[in-house]
Amino acid sequence: MNLLEKLDAAAAARKAMLPDGVGAFGIPIEEVYSATEAKIGERRVLLLGTNNYLGLTFAPECIEAAHQALNHEGTGTTGSRMANGSYYGHRALEQEFADFYQCSAGIVFTTGYQANLGTISGLVGRGDTVLIDGDSHASIYDGCILSGAEIIRFKHNDMADMEKRLRRLGNRTETTLIIVEGIYSMLGDQAPLAEIVRLKNKYNCTLLLDEAHSLGVLGETGQGLVEKTGLLNEVDFITGTFSKSLCSIGGFCVSNHSQLDQLRFVSHPYIFTASPSPATIASTRAALALLKNGDNLRKQLWKNCSQLYERLKTAGYELGPEPGPVIAAILDNPKQALQIWQSLLEHNIYVNLILPPAAPDGKSLVRCSVNAAHTTEQMTYVGDTFAKLYQQILEH
Ligand SMILES: Cc1ncc(COP(=O)(O)O)c(C=O)c1O
Repeated sequence: MNLLEKLDAAAAARKAMLPDGVGAFGIPIEEVYSATEAKIGERRVLLLGTNNYLGLTFAPECIEAAHQALNHEGTGTTGSRMANGSYYGHRALEQEFADFYQCSAGIVFTTGYQANLGTISGLVGRGDTVLIDGDSHASIYDGCILSGAEIIRFKHNDMADMEKRLRRLGNRTETTLIIVEGIYSMLGDQAPLAEIVRLKNKYNCTLLLDEAHSLGVLGETGQGLVEKTGLLNEVDFITGTFSKSLCSIGGFCVSNHSQLDQLRFVSHPYIFTASPSPATIASTRAALALLKNGDNLRKQLWKNCSQLYERLKTAGYELGPEPGPVIAAILDNPKQALQIWQSLLEHNIYVNLILPPAAPDGKSLVRCSVNAAHTTEQMTYVGDTFAKLYQQILEH
């Protein structure tokens, strides 16, 4: 089979899972009305598949900041952070992230994906080891591959399995980077950080925590799992993205280790790419200020999360182990998952469909992302629709 035939085979396998050319992936959004509503095809739909956890996509402060930056600094930096692409705003945002996490320094990357790629490949290399959760995001896997370090996976959130693998590493643990996530993007569950920190200290490793989905969501000021668990000082490196609670695009890494700055000189995903646009940086800075003081937003978000999680659970769906802004209905049968996804759209509800191999354990997911701007009525409508579809599709 040549290269193009291999792509044909992959396309055929995808089509077999999505009959009749159903466009479940990359669906065009024609117009966006608000943080919770948009136009898809001819429908006005409820958005339940965005990572807009604090509902800040239309926050006037962020829009105004972006306008100002566009007017004064133009549309793009046209260069790398290492050349002409480090404006005042990039440096200011790095300091604001460092202050937010009470760390000595921070680095801003062009995407969250690159924050993981750049941090991991800067920290470890050939001869080193990465010990990662089996459900890690692709950016973590890709960062590990780029680094050339040996990749060892432990079963998702399974601390006995993690310790077994640490024991096997012997004295190589000193050059081992453990990588976990605050909230996992597939099932919405949280890492058992206290136990991970205990093992990291026992075996003398380095720990990187990706707070992509937990920034703005967990902890009193929204730092993430480190704040919820009171373990900020036990984590060596924290990465995260601007594309979820901060509603723009970009990523960061913060640390108290003075060596963090060295990543700027060795990390290709930092050096060999253009820096985020001034408008992106400006709106992110405004969003970070709102996030820190976003206690009310977090309360509303968690109220919505609990309401929908409980409703789906009582309706009979198998869900991830705990409520959170990511609520995934877990299904064995991809056809049924597709049917539920399509029916939800017919009821004007947009959610994410995740089919194997993207979903863990060969399962299929119909995944909702809840946000602080959703109203109780919207949550009730979504919950009732899911319940009706359970009876229509899964009980037959
Ligand atoms: C856990 C995790 N880390 C990193 C990223 C990458 O962030 P971005 O999409 O902003 O590049 C994502 C994106 O979904 C993610 O879920």
